[in-house]
Amino acid sequence: MPQKPEQLPDSVEQGLAPELVTVLIEVGQALVANLSTDAVLAAALRVVQRVLSAEASSVFLADPDTRDLRVYLADPEHDGALKSHVQPKGKGLSGLAAEQGRAILVADAYQDPRFDPTADSRTGFRTRSVLCVPLRVLGENLGVIQVLNKKGGGSFTERELILLQAVASLVALALDNARKHEELLQAQRLATVGETIASLAHCIKNVLSGINAGTFFINEAIGKQDLAGVKKGWQIADANMKFLSDLVLNMLSFARRREPVLQATDVNRLCNEVLNLLAEQAREQQVEVKLQPHKNLPKIKLDSVGLRRCLLNLLGNAIDACAEKKGKVTVSVDGHNDDCLYIRIADSGAGMSAETLKKLFTVFFSTKGNRGTGLGLPVSKKIIEEHGGRLQVDSVLDQGTTFTIVLPINSPSK
Ligand SMILES: Nc1ncnc2c1ncn2[C@@H]1O[C@H](COP(=O)(O)OP(=O)(O)OP(=O)(O)O)[C@@H](O)[C@H]1O
Ligand SMILES: [Mg+2]
Repeated sequence: MPQKPEQLPDSVEQGLAPELVTVLIEVGQALVANLSTDAVLAAALRVVQRVLSAEASSVFLADPDTRDLRVYLADPEHDGALKSHVQPKGKGLSGLAAEQGRAILVADAYQDPRFDPTADSRTGFRTRSVLCVPLRVLGENLGVIQVLNKKGGGSFTERELILLQAVASLVALALDNARKHEELLQAQRLATVGETIASLAHCIKNVLSGINAGTFFINEAIGKQDLAGVKKGWQIADANMKFLSDLVLNMLSFARRREPVLQATDVNRLCNEVLNLLAEQAREQQVEVKLQPHKNLPKIKLDSVGLRRCLLNLLGNAIDACAEKKGKVTVSVDGHNDDCLYIRIADSGAGMSAETLKKLFTVFFSTKGNRGTGLGLPVSKKIIEEHGGRLQVDSVLDQGTTFTIVLPINSPSK
């Protein structure tokens, strides 16, 4: 049950209400304005210090393990000097307030045996009157909020202590929200890391089995002096090593944010190079691949390493999609009359269902079982977007798919 300040009705009668309302409204506004926790706490300290005419104010948080108090935030004048100060658990007025969960009002600190002057000796500040209130959420003490020295001398009053208690509830709520939010983010991060590692481990395990199978063939064939067998084993091992190297390069492209390294590139030639690289795969899968180059294309400034990776991914997918039907793939480079360059990779393959189209760019989504990692399209999209371009897809199930790379030729980055 939340603690109700016992003297609230009296204090309201005695004229605290306007200040209390001001403070609660200002701190409440900061809280709902979706500001950071630091901004909420800074606003709370500012308004409390102003309304209570105090010289200094601070929020201390208890270390979850040792329960010692560390300054989380202080008013701008004292924040720097206090940052390195640690108030031992249960020591001094703040230590006691945090440990025992009760509010403390002291008129003259140096006359109080509970006062610990260590912080004063570090900062050069001379503490006189003190208000110190625990920050409590669901029975747990998170720390304290402290206000020091009534301006112009004199002490704080019981009523002002109640006002600080009201603020402390809001501050504790802001801190608790921030803590819960951070815990949630951490849990989500861990879940994502876990899923990623599981997918990669599965994929790498399969590739390693492929390499093992290849080397097994080679060993057997060497024993029998069988050159054709060695060749077959080598092809298996080589294909799997290529797969592993593609996986690593895709992972690196995906993990890093990098600015494209722009250089004048002959796009027709680059497409032709990629076609040649995949010619063997196309031949094996009996897929016809042809290039329709742009007739009159000048060199264009783009990241040729990145675009090469995209073309390898998109053309590799198109050939895979055609394999069952022994279909056709056409790569065409189209003009830049509206300041954009279009590279189309059109296949007459399997096409995609609405379900596949929806998940297409999700990392690790693949319908190829052991042969796919599901990184190719997310990586390609990322590289094209880093150029300020976009990747479009049109697909009809059982008829084929066209991916179009749209690259702005005069984008601001060029
Ligand atoms: N041209 C295409 N035709 C039909 N389906 C496609 C085509 N391109 C992509 N897909 C579908 O999108 C999925 C994701 O493609 P992506 O390239 O990201 O991964 P992948 O090819 O499965 O594996 P890898 O990471 O090795 O490229 C594929 O598994 C496939 O289902
Ligand atoms: Mg792919």
